[in-house]
Amino acid sequence: MRQILVTSALPYANGSIHLGHLVEYIQTDIWVRAMRALGNKVTYVCADDAHGTAIMLKAEELGLTPEAQIAGVKAEHEADFAKFGIGFDQYHSTHSEENRRLSVQVYEKNAAAGYIARRSIEQLFDPQKSLFLADRFVKGTCPKCDTPDQYGDNCENCGATYSATELKGARSTLSGATPVLKSSEHYFFDLPQFETFLKDWMSSEGVLQDSIKNKLAEWFESGLKQWDISRDAPYFGFLIPGTTDKYFYVWLDAPVGYMASFEALCARRDDLNFDDYWTKAGAQNTELYHFIGKDIVNFHALFWPAMLEGADLRTPSGVFAHGFLTVGGEKMSKSRGTFIKASTFAESLSTEALRYYFASKLTASVEDINLDLPDFMQKVNSDLVGKVVNIASRCAGFLTKQFDSKTHSEVLDPGLLARVVEAGDAIAESYEAREFAKAMRQIMACADMANEFIDAEKPWQLIKDETTRERAHLVCSQGINLFRLLVTYLAPVLPELAAQASEFLQTPVDQFSGRECALLDHQIAEFKPLMTRIEAAQLDAVVEASKDSAPAASIEPAQPVKSAKKKTQTSAAPSEIEFADFAKVELKAAVVLSADFVDGADKLLALTLDVGENKPRSVFSGIREAYPDPQTLVGLTVIAVTNLAPRKMRFGVSEAMILASGQGDQVRVAQVTGVPAGTPVS
Ligand code: MSP
Ligand code: ZN
Repeated sequence: MRQILVTSALPYANGSIHLGHLVEYIQTDIWVRAMRALGNKVTYVCADDAHGTAIMLKAEELGLTPEAQIAGVKAEHEADFAKFGIGFDQYHSTHSEENRRLSVQVYEKNAAAGYIARRSIEQLFDPQKSLFLADRFVKGTCPKCDTPDQYGDNCENCGATYSATELKGARSTLSGATPVLKSSEHYFFDLPQFETFLKDWMSSEGVLQDSIKNKLAEWFESGLKQWDISRDAPYFGFLIPGTTDKYFYVWLDAPVGYMASFEALCARRDDLNFDDYWTKAGAQNTELYHFIGKDIVNFHALFWPAMLEGADLRTPSGVFAHGFLTVGGEKMSKSRGTFIKASTFAESLSTEALRYYFASKLTASVEDINLDLPDFMQKVNSDLVGKVVNIASRCAGFLTKQFDSKTHSEVLDPGLLARVVEAGDAIAESYEAREFAKAMRQIMACADMANEFIDAEKPWQLIKDETTRERAHLVCSQGINLFRLLVTYLAPVLPELAAQASEFLQTPVDQFSGRECALLDHQIAEFKPLMTRIEAAQLDAVVEASKDSAPAASIEPAQPVKSAKKKTQTSAAPSEIEFADFAKVELKAAVVLSADFVDGADKLLALTLDVGENKPRSVFSGIREAYPDPQTLVGLTVIAVTNLAPRKMRFGVSEAMILASGQGDQVRVAQVTGVPAGTPVS
């Protein structure tokens, strides 16, 4: 049994999770689940990346302490990940005691070994905010082509790169003040000393993708440079030992966050030992893989392995980069409604459907992947609903009603079953190689065989005649056995569907091994619909709802990556709105007439509200967790937003929204008392 530790990159704690992020977390989660299904011991950790100037400024803008700001975001991130079935074993924060201690340790080992240098550098400084300014906080006129309003590192118009000090009429984007040059001492990690080591590390088979190796070769060619790992106060991060006003740059302690998260997990798990996974001795028996986006390759394939080596720790067995998500062939855009937050998507659409769609697109390459919403709908409806789930629904009814929910004791077509069992080996290989698109094609080819078999046998005709009745039993039993194999193969992608199917089949479907033993004379449970078709209106609802949600500030790396392309994204949602904006929202007292669970939606309650109109309104509200007995809501007067466009959801149309406060099972609806239904609230 292989012992494998897997990570995804740590999302910044200053913005919401969006579909772009999810490419990575879904890719990693599928791989983790697949490797487990193949019998390995796999541990999956992640954390919020909570430090840096951007987060400090965000908290300031919101009037919060950074601690309060990152705590709120962490809760939101965790809730979003849970909705998409991302099964971290540990979700931690880089702003944690474990991470402080480990970051200091890694730094001190490197310092003791002579890998840390110090020297003074001159930087632009905002005299009004008393803050050194990173390039992206400085704007001015391009020194080459005179285009105004360019960032401090390169020009969007002519593409020139320069240093912020060369800009004409430079000003701080934080205060508008004219920056001054100021010098201060910085700490540097001496990357050039690791050139030979890095070349050696990356030459091992499978450590990096070829295109990434080529990128690295370019960097080696242009010469490795010392890496600035310190930032002056004020900064939100960890103090560098021996200083009172210098902090580790966020990218120093961020990857150490992988170790910190794992350490926190070890503290509550008897079967995991920190040293087994992070010391050089431990590395003989364990593997470590980082899944990342292509924008952060330099941090993971240069600085991180070098720092680990410098601290005499193990290095990664592999760093797997993926491409970026485009929506409708273009960069995600707020105005087009294609900057889609995870939570917005989950409100109207099946999150497993997205997992399947991403799986059907993902390969081991660094190519960008595109989400085309009509194609998404078509693919999910035709593959999952039309092919896979259809097999079960075609066979389950007959088995239940006519054969006491029991499969036959024999296999009608052992050859067909064996072919689908065998296909599992190739599917397993595709999963392990991160060729998920190929795995999905292989699985759908099996689904096609199963459907062709049922089409040819026509159990709905066989069942009508006493002489062919037994054959109908054999056919449906075989269908159920084929379905079980398909679900086993799809389980890494569709864990929720697999759990429901496992309930229905009364057998586990989480391991590839043992799949060759067919379910004979086997009792199955009642069949419940496993997945419903996606309707175009649901796609529209997501796009509509995305038009007013602000882009997460977190899509900007904390520091522009090596000659990165200009970021055109400006700041996030304004913290202030005009009264006129508020006045557009129509709030009314609403009496809850009924409150019920929604079949198939474990987060929702279906409410009917009297808002003083001729007809009550129906509303779907995500408060089920907090109201295990919905009847307690009936009769309450709550506050409803009554002029929102009706939203079509999977279970019906929601015609209003109710106000509530709190998280998870602590949510409480906002109430007013002593006023009749329909009274305006302001
Ligand atoms: N905090 C750093 C990572 C530190 S890891 C020690 C960071 N955070 S991020 O929130 O900007 O991004 C987290 C991950 O999501 C990164 O791997 C990034 O590449 C990925 N993605 C963010 N936007 C993306 C798309 N639009 N498409 C695909 N992946 C994207 O970077
Ligand atoms: Zn220019």
